Amino acid sequence: MEKVYGVIGDPIGHSLSPLMHNHSFAIENIQAAYHPFLVKKEDLESAVRGMKAIGIQGFNVTIPHKEAIIPYLDEVDALAAEIGAVNTVVLRNGAYVGYNTDGIGFVKALKQAIREVNVEQKKVLIIGAGGAAKGIYYSLLAEGFTNVDLANRSVERARQLISGSTHASSSLSNAYSMEDAEENLNQYDILIQTTSVGMSPRREESPLTLEKLNRQTHVFDIIYNPYETKFLTLAKEKGCSIHNGIDMFVYQGAFAFQLWTEIWPNTDEMRKVVINRLGG
Ligand code: ATR
Repeated sequence: MEKVYGVIGDPIGHSLSPLMHNHSFAIENIQAAYHPFLVKKEDLESAVRGMKAIGIQGFNVTIPHKEAIIPYLDEVDALAAEIGAVNTVVLRNGAYVGYNTDGIGFVKALKQAIREVNVEQKKVLIIGAGGAAKGIYYSLLAEGFTNVDLANRSVERARQLISGSTHASSSLSNAYSMEDAEENLNQYDILIQTTSVGMSPRREESPLTLEKLNRQTHVFDIIYNPYETKFLTLAKEKGCSIHNGIDMFVYQGAFAFQLWTEIWPNTDEMRKVVINRLGG
């Protein structure tokens, strides 16, 4: 019988996940289908119960349910529990188990982009301290990165994010204001933009100026619409190598696909259908 997977969120109409996963199921010859499901906040609990009752084998979770879903799951993996957010659910022996593949998806994209030994020792600055930053920060520490600082409009929120980590390396992390970060950009090997600033339709905005940026710095933005944010354009003008959020999206999907099927999918194919749909 065909297995059913999906993604729940609100809004959900523009999700690229159905396209990416259905393409991968077809390539791997797996009898399965992946559907988008619009689930309102107030319906989350009954939606999860209903999905289990009808045997949905696994699903992704997106805005606004990533944190709220946790009480309705049977188990939550340790990293997802630390992050406090779930983006992937797997049905295992009748139980729904929650994972977070966003952060590890980003780390995989970063390691693919910077193919150097000891990349974990590089100095990293994350811009932002919201849910996306949290997933990336905790995943970087879990993957052995030791020098990770945060800069946020609200410095207090960045401080809280650092102090919320139980990882030993978090004691080496610093929280900065955007202004302080701008002054010290030349200290960093890797810059990761995680705020919503610059996302369509606010295409002309950047969360900070990049005057002090070194051309050797690898610059990432987790946004992929637009394909190249103002922040990335500024970094490119400084001579930096730039990376948008497409690979993070592809790899979070690849890790989810692997959790569901035990197969690592063809990520080149996944990237291709996503870029095609985005008009690239
Ligand atoms: P997400 O889950 O996408 O990370 P979030 O948890 O709402 O969303 O976090 C949004 C992030 O973007 C925060 O770091 C936020 O900064 P504050 O914590 O100071 O609010 C940042 N952000 C949003 N709008 C911003 C703006 N206009 N300038 C600077 N930072 C902004």
